[in-house]
Amino acid sequence: MTNNDIQQVKQRFGIIGNNAELNRAIDVALQVAPTDLSVLITGESGVGKEVFPQVVHQNSPRKHAQYIAVNCGAIPEGTIDSELFGHEKGSFTDAKDLRKGYFEVADGGTIFLDEVGELPLSTQVRLLRVLESGEFMKVGSSKAQKTNVRIVAATNVNLVEAVSQHKFREDLYYRLNTVPIRIPPLRERHEDVLLLFRKFASDCADKYRMPAIHLNESARELLLSYRWPGNVRELKNIVERVSVIEENREITAEVLKMHLPNISMEKLPALASYHADDKKIFNSEREILYQVLFDMKKDVNELKKLVHDIMNENVTMNTVENKNIYSPTTVSPPPIRHSSIQDAETVEETLSLEDVEKEMIRKALDRHNKRRKNAAADLQISERTLYRKIKEYGLE
Ligand SMILES: Nc1ncnc2c1ncn2[C@@H]1O[C@H](COP(=O)(O)OP(=O)(O)OP(=O)(O)O)[C@@H](O)[C@H]1O
Ligand SMILES: [Mg+2]
Repeated sequence: MTNNDIQQVKQRFGIIGNNAELNRAIDVALQVAPTDLSVLITGESGVGKEVFPQVVHQNSPRKHAQYIAVNCGAIPEGTIDSELFGHEKGSFTDAKDLRKGYFEVADGGTIFLDEVGELPLSTQVRLLRVLESGEFMKVGSSKAQKTNVRIVAATNVNLVEAVSQHKFREDLYYRLNTVPIRIPPLRERHEDVLLLFRKFASDCADKYRMPAIHLNESARELLLSYRWPGNVRELKNIVERVSVIEENREITAEVLKMHLPNISMEKLPALASYHADDKKIFNSEREILYQVLFDMKKDVNELKKLVHDIMNENVTMNTVENKNIYSPTTVSPPPIRHSSIQDAETVEETLSLEDVEKEMIRKALDRHNKRRKNAAADLQISERTLYRKIKEYGLE
């Protein structure tokens, strides 16, 4: 592909940047597009993976057929097979009608499997089969159907590691990874940070009808030395926040600092032994209390479930002891200072546990730039649970 082809793709799909590895990624996407080979897009959260499957689809002979993007992490385990492959009428309680799955609807087109590492193992088996033979079966059916679908998958988890932990099938990994495309993290793309800043600042200015912000020399240096754990998504959020909040349109390092979270820890060198993700940072005592209450609520729920299981399964006391119901790690809140305990009681009086949970979730989402996967990890709940709670509490 010529440089001109690559620039055209950037124009068309709104990709900003001129980093050599980014250009190479676009080049590979264009080369592989006309084939039916599976493509696996890898890269940290927020680097800009989402546009690549579209680049592939739109430059392929499949462009007039369906393109379906599926977020594998957001679909509950119980329904994912039926979403992907469809189901027969009456195959399970909620299956009132026959339903077509994405693999049937996208026949002749492309399916983008986002967060493919989240696929349950049983679904991975079905996926491997359809990739190898072009055949699949609806849930509750024993009749094989044919389909012709091209797969582009993306992940921000290390699939090789997932394979070694037996969370991801090795055969499926090789099948998906026929053509790997890696999108580099923003901290390796110095030349792009300022380009992206300018683009986001001017988009924001258009959107809110105000002059665009710009950086002075010190702010520019700060921006370039920042580690960008949330990559382009984080940069975009920060530019929006600064544009809206700061009245002065010239942004200094001092002002910018206030908007960069945990700046001292996230700064370069990237190889610094301390990584912010390794440790939770609590900004206030209140946050510690929220965490304690949140953990307690989780414990209570676990206990409820245990009791429920016992009632249903008639488990003997012996088994209960095996489950360590009285072990301190299961029921005790983490140790906190005495003064905090007193405050915890006050907080507990004024806030319902639901409120606390809501607040915890909101804070975790803020801390991680709305990145649900990281927020879920921080809260030590599964991503699925987080999705459910966000819906339940209307936190969208
Ligand atoms: N090169 C780029 N030019 C313009 N915008 C970009 C670029 N890269 C990323 N963005 C923007 O940054 C945000 C995050 O990108 P995207 O959603 O593709 O991340 P991702 O790699 O899929 O992350 P995750 O693994 O968390 O899903 C989006 O709003 C996207 O438009
Ligand atoms: Mg994504």
